[in-house]
Amino acid sequence: MIGWALFISFFVTVCKSDEIIDLDGNNWFLRDGSGEFKNLRAVVPGGVYSDLMRHEIIEDIFKGYNDNATKWVPRRNWTYSTTFNVKQDVLNSDNVNIVFEGLDTFARVVVNGKDVGGSNNMFVQYIMSIKDVLKVGSNSLEVQFRSPIEVAAALEEEQDKQYVVPPKCPPGEYRGECYANMIRKMQASFSWDWGPAFPSVGIWKKVYIESYQESKIRYIGTEITDDQTNWYLNVDIYLANNAKGAVNGAVKIDINGLTNTVNVQAKPDNNGEIKANSIFTVPKTTVETWWPNGYGKQTLYKLQATFTNNQGETNSKTVRVGFRSIELVQEQLGSGLSFYFKVNGVPIFMKGSNEIPLSILPEKGHHRSLIETMLNTAQENHMNMLRVWGGGVYESDYFYDLADEKGILIWQDFMFACAMYPTGSDYLLNVVQEIRHQVNRLRSHPSIALFAGNNENEGALRDNWYGTQDNFQTYYNDYIKLYINTVQTELKERISPNRIFLSSSPSNGLKTINEGYVSQNPGDYNYGDVHFYNYENDPWNSNIYPVCRFASEYGYQSLPSLSSWRKVTNDPEDLNINGRFMEHRQHHPEGTSQLKNMIEMNLKLPDETSADYTKSFVYLSQVVQALAIRIETEHYRRYRSNLNSAGQGHTMGALYWQLNDVWVAPTWSGIDFLGNQKMLQYFVKDAFAPVIITGHINDQRTLEIYVVSDRLETIPNVTASIQVFKWDSFNPVHTENITLDVSPSESKLIKSIETDEFLAEQNCGSKDDAKNNCFFYFTLNAPGHDQVAPVNYVFPAPLKNSNLKRPTVVLKSVTQVDTKPFKYYVKIGTDVVTPFVWLESSIQGRFENNGLLLTSPATCFEYTATTDDIDIHFINSVTITHL
Ligand SMILES: *[C@@H]1O[C@H](CO)[C@@H](O)[C@H](O)[C@H]1NC(C)=O
Ligand SMILES: *[C@@H]1O[C@H](CO)[C@@H](O)[C@H](O)[C@H]1NC(C)=O
Ligand SMILES: *[C@@H]1O[C@H](CO)[C@@H](O)[C@H](O)[C@H]1NC(C)=O
Ligand SMILES: *[C@@H]1O[C@H](CO)[C@@H](O)[C@H](O)[C@H]1NC(C)=O
Repeated sequence: MIGWALFISFFVTVCKSDEIIDLDGNNWFLRDGSGEFKNLRAVVPGGVYSDLMRHEIIEDIFKGYNDNATKWVPRRNWTYSTTFNVKQDVLNSDNVNIVFEGLDTFARVVVNGKDVGGSNNMFVQYIMSIKDVLKVGSNSLEVQFRSPIEVAAALEEEQDKQYVVPPKCPPGEYRGECYANMIRKMQASFSWDWGPAFPSVGIWKKVYIESYQESKIRYIGTEITDDQTNWYLNVDIYLANNAKGAVNGAVKIDINGLTNTVNVQAKPDNNGEIKANSIFTVPKTTVETWWPNGYGKQTLYKLQATFTNNQGETNSKTVRVGFRSIELVQEQLGSGLSFYFKVNGVPIFMKGSNEIPLSILPEKGHHRSLIETMLNTAQENHMNMLRVWGGGVYESDYFYDLADEKGILIWQDFMFACAMYPTGSDYLLNVVQEIRHQVNRLRSHPSIALFAGNNENEGALRDNWYGTQDNFQTYYNDYIKLYINTVQTELKERISPNRIFLSSSPSNGLKTINEGYVSQNPGDYNYGDVHFYNYENDPWNSNIYPVCRFASEYGYQSLPSLSSWRKVTNDPEDLNINGRFMEHRQHHPEGTSQLKNMIEMNLKLPDETSADYTKSFVYLSQVVQALAIRIETEHYRRYRSNLNSAGQGHTMGALYWQLNDVWVAPTWSGIDFLGNQKMLQYFVKDAFAPVIITGHINDQRTLEIYVVSDRLETIPNVTASIQVFKWDSFNPVHTENITLDVSPSESKLIKSIETDEFLAEQNCGSKDDAKNNCFFYFTLNAPGHDQVAPVNYVFPAPLKNSNLKRPTVVLKSVTQVDTKPFKYYVKIGTDVVTPFVWLESSIQGRFENNGLLLTSPATCFEYTATTDDIDIHFINSVTITHL
């Protein structure tokens, strides 16, 4: 067990000014239902895994087989308890409540021995009146949690008496828990194909006691519409009810020098809510517009609402407003409907990723450094949209605040994923509470672009993923009850009609609505958004990718670096892709054989008997994933202003799967659990650059070279340089320069080449063999050689067949160029063309670019450390890997 000294001493404080007793901190104790563990010091916000790890009752759950070894933890009941002091002035208030911003999940709350309320949804904020049970002086509080696994099973047994709501259990490979769909808890906490089952239990958000006489402001919800000259800011203020059952007072609202005051004399409405409303007309000339990342500034205006009553009670709350409009355009196009976003009237190609919960332990998902890592990466990688995926959690306020500041639009799913769901009246009432709370909490953020009902459940129902076909009508009725009659109804009661709601991610958009919310063919490329996965075909062949309107999920697995694996196991035997440990963490059915297959299509699999087998495998898996996603992403971008002969295309979004990880495992992520960027993340930065030059070889073996620009202005007089290199020389055998003006918001074909004939003419070899000896290399430069787009290349044949020469790659020199933060230039030399040169440093930090194709004898890499704690010479920390 851990000593007391390790706990930061914490005193419960009574803040007279706002009458709040903060109960966060370590003045808590944890015990389990069996009596084995008692009086364990606990931390709130937190959860049982964190507390048990701190006491070394369980080992670090992220290491070894500890997911398996700790399966007993969520099978017990756990109780958190504390005591707190209350002074007379708190009890003088007519209203005294305990507020839990998040309880995970099934709890009874007992104050001084009396049950004051319960919880059954981790996404709801619970406010329980405790005035009648409090006393001056010391008071006791217990939060008695039940095992979520036990509750889910009991609910499923009840449900089964009517009919089964599948899936009951995840595939065996997930090593997960059953019946997640029965309960309103992070669905992925029962396991996923990229994550372990850690169904935490605990008080995962703030808890405090509030008191007030008349009322206080609970939420500020803003809606923005506009016309040519004005923004119209509609402000809903939600006020707390009181013991009298009616609120009298006034709300004053200030924004940017404008003030409105609303008198409130109200009883709760049919929803039990007390609302004040005010509309501001804000001339467009008086404020700056909020823009997504890459399109302008993210100016935010503070909106403050203050409640006062005639006894002099006063409290206030603020939100930040960003003035922007956003619409989803779905109009006749080709053989279907378009599907693209216009922000402030400008069609914008959405570039980004899908985020899974920032941590599998929900309280850790609030860590600021973690949120900053993710959103900084998104911003630096030219992303303008992230999807908060429906199997995780509604993220913390700080996550959305930062998205507002960085111009990252949020595609916000409601938390339902890959399952049928129950629709009993208790369940639906529970969902109503969740939707109200989360929509009120989130909707004022300018980053929130849209809400979506669920992840993949429309497709799951139509395409019979869970064996529901024989009883389709039953599950269809449930689908409508849940996502349309409940989720959509509650949402639309709050948001303005011009807001975007999609009943499922993905969907066919308007066609889904017209076909009764479950389309005949949910994956139709002519409509809406598409999720695309394919593990059978060559991932470096762009012709396998769908020509769709919007790709909202697509991806490939890879392994995180060996240094990350070494942080979770000390046993060298575990570092074997075919071994028991890595297989334990491979949750995707057939995942490892798919990885091998993916590698083998373009590269040579490493020799299984070699000492470097797994190291090579890790590297190759990252190479394949990185270039596959670059090729696929550029494929979508090439179609931004083009239709194919079937009328498909005008693709206006590419959100790859997945941004982050929740443990060290083979997954689809670009950033691993320890925060290291895989090669993918570097390639994403290039694939998402505002302007790209990109080539692909079509099914007729014609190389088509495009310049794609997301910029809103023409870039005049740039030089596209098309070169052919032989693998054995730094001197190109062919260079052709094309001068062009890069048109705004356009994808333009600038050159077509008959690949094999052309390469033969460049003395690359015979028409059949030339493709194995040469490759294409593209740059796009402004006069004066400034790069307009990242360099790019096309390999005309699988690299395993190409005549690559064995290079000698050396670290030539390291120059320290800065100390705050530490920054280095690393000069890498090679004697021949070398693809995928990958640098790693044991010092925490990041390269500016990595995984490069070297076409000259010396190349400079730039490294920025994210720690001051550098105990070895940088030069000794660097390792180089190449093909
Ligand atoms: C998981 O735990 C069970 C029970 O303790 C044990 O029998 C089994 O071998 C463990 N599996 C792994 C992969 O460690
Ligand atoms: C948890 O508590 C519930 C309700 O008190 C009880 O029915 C159940 O048996 C307990 N489960 C365990 C594993 O102790
Ligand atoms: C082609 O363009 C490249 C890059 O801008 C430049 O370095 C080179 O000199 C140009 N070559 C010719 C033949 O114009
Ligand atoms: C275009 O750029 C070339 C150099 O790349 C320069 O010689 C020429 O003057 C430029 N033309 C215009 C119209 O700017």
